[in-house]
Amino acid sequence: MKKLYIETLGCAMNVRDSEHMIAELNQKEPYALTSNLKEADLIIINTCSVREKPVSKLFSEIGVFKKYKKPSAKIGVTGCTASHLGKDIIKRAPSVDFVLGARNVSKLSKIIDVKHAVEVDIDHDDSLYAFGEYRTHPFKAMINISMGCDKSCTYCIVPATRGDEVSIPSELIIREIEKAVATGAKEVMLLGQNVNNYGKYFSSKESKCNFTELLQKVSQIEGLERIRFTSPHPLHMDNEFLEEFAHNPKICKQIHVPLQSGSTSLLKEMKRGYSKEWFLNRCAKIRKLCPEATISTDIIVGFPNESDADFEETMEVLEAVRFEQLFSFKYSPRPHTAAAEYENQISNKIASKRLTRLQARHTEIVDEIMNAQMDAEHQVYFDELKSGGRVSGRADDGKLFFVEGSEDLLGSIQKVKVIKTSRGALNGIIL
Ligand code: 5AD
Ligand code: SF4
Repeated sequence: MKKLYIETLGCAMNVRDSEHMIAELNQKEPYALTSNLKEADLIIINTCSVREKPVSKLFSEIGVFKKYKKPSAKIGVTGCTASHLGKDIIKRAPSVDFVLGARNVSKLSKIIDVKHAVEVDIDHDDSLYAFGEYRTHPFKAMINISMGCDKSCTYCIVPATRGDEVSIPSELIIREIEKAVATGAKEVMLLGQNVNNYGKYFSSKESKCNFTELLQKVSQIEGLERIRFTSPHPLHMDNEFLEEFAHNPKICKQIHVPLQSGSTSLLKEMKRGYSKEWFLNRCAKIRKLCPEATISTDIIVGFPNESDADFEETMEVLEAVRFEQLFSFKYSPRPHTAAAEYENQISNKIASKRLTRLQARHTEIVDEIMNAQMDAEHQVYFDELKSGGRVSGRADDGKLFFVEGSEDLLGSIQKVKVIKTSRGALNGIIL
């Protein structure tokens, strides 16, 4: 059997795209996955372009692959960087055999044998396409509910790499989840660039269903016990959606509310569509409706024009919401984005200082949150066997747990009591 080496960078959408690519290949000819580059017949790098660093790493990586691969092995560059650089990738690195953009996953089996094929059409629509079955994880399924993005955040390259937003009809989503449940998944992660904007655009006429209604439909699937989703947009967090999140017992009580900046004037320049007050109001509503929920966020520091006062407003939001998880980044100017052309780019020195301060304060907050977890009880879904006779899993609110145990625990949900806390994970015993 031929062997595939696949490296996946970036977000959960990319992880799912890699699964879809494996399924596509297998429909044509079976491939076995390998982590040994030297024995691969096909090497795929599924790239991310949201910040500059991984893009510059790509070309040095292609050089390494070229050096160590079998002479007959093909190299494919896929994903968001493939979308935005297109044929320039082959110009710069002729050892690359094909380039497949993030919106073109279903074309993989057609182009794999076409030397120097480039498929990067961002208008391509896979929303009605039935991908083959392939899942990395037997217990947890990722399911796309929409593709592309209808926003134009001024820092973000994604609309240029993944195209306009289109929702997948709810019947197809339900069918796919039912298939995953039938093969052992108890948990699904619904994926989209702005999941709670679901239902605005369909390529077929019949489907009319918003995100809250989709959640209700999905939660009726028998055998499905947990529903997660990523990422929602703060702008579309209406009361109806937050009530559903809080009161539907199958929805895991973990929600990502990407802030980006605490300054209303910067949010305007980012074209985020909400103010600091709206953001705080939505988080307060989540805390009130659902005190057990954890809230995570994304923050960018050093966006053009960010003053000390703007940054202090971001710090204020951090204090007010006390996010359980923070993903924080220095602003990185990207091609095809409005903000890359803005005057008043912030120096790396100032951005680094702000990032360090933000992360240090957040670490203190997380330590306080995790220390307070001693003796707490959670429902944990066990999904991974670890070394030293341990098994790991996630609580409903996303906290990572380790307990002593064997593979018998895998795929089961158990009540666990915390016996030891640390910043990143909790140790527990099964009750
Ligand atoms: N620079 C830095 N961070 C960015 N993100 C998106 N674009 C950029 C950029 N140009 C961050 C945002 C987004 C997360 C996925 O990546 O915080 O929510
Ligand atoms: Fe995902 Fe955005 Fe990176 Fe594309 S650019 S892989 S959508 S994080």
